[in-house]
Amino acid sequence: MERDHACGRLNPCISRRTLLKGSGAALVSTIFLSIPGLKQAVAAQVARYPRKKIGTLSSLQVNQPQFFNYPDDTPSAVSMLVKLGVPAGGGIGPEQDVVAFNTLCPHMGGPLMGMYQKEDQALGPCPFHQSTFDLTKHGMVISGHATESLPQVLLELDGDDIYAVGMIGLIFGRYDNLVSQA
Ligand code: FES
Repeated sequence: MERDHACGRLNPCISRRTLLKGSGAALVSTIFLSIPGLKQAVAAQVARYPRKKIGTLSSLQVNQPQFFNYPDDTPSAVSMLVKLGVPAGGGIGPEQDVVAFNTLCPHMGGPLMGMYQKEDQALGPCPFHQSTFDLTKHGMVISGHATESLPQVLLELDGDDIYAVGMIGLIFGRYDNLVSQA
């Protein structure tokens, strides 16, 4: 049983522990920065991505994507893990060809699931405005209206297990990848 906490008059009490358990929030830690010119250290909060197992290397076959959610379980977090068969930026594994990307188009959120082009290791065209992304080059735009790369999920290999550990780029519709509005 948790103890009562001081709280505002209008909202029911919720402890920090309960909030973190309920939201599945990423770890947040406080670090102290020493900045030249300032007489005392400045506290800064750093949000950390979760480390989540998303698959195994032995279960992957070239050009056959697998899907998972990261960094949370909301619909906008749907991501694709794929072994491209050619080395790629951020790729892991013996051939450095295993990569993962969020599947929402960064232009206006068009759904890119099922749009993998194995001949070019590309994702697209987006059904909304035809953007296509190069999965060998960190999701760089090849064509279409998008101006941002596809958000890439950072991967780590531990034995045969593949873990998602972070992201490059912002998921469409979010101001912070670790804060979901869904
Ligand atoms: S939403 Fe994908 S190109 Fe516009």
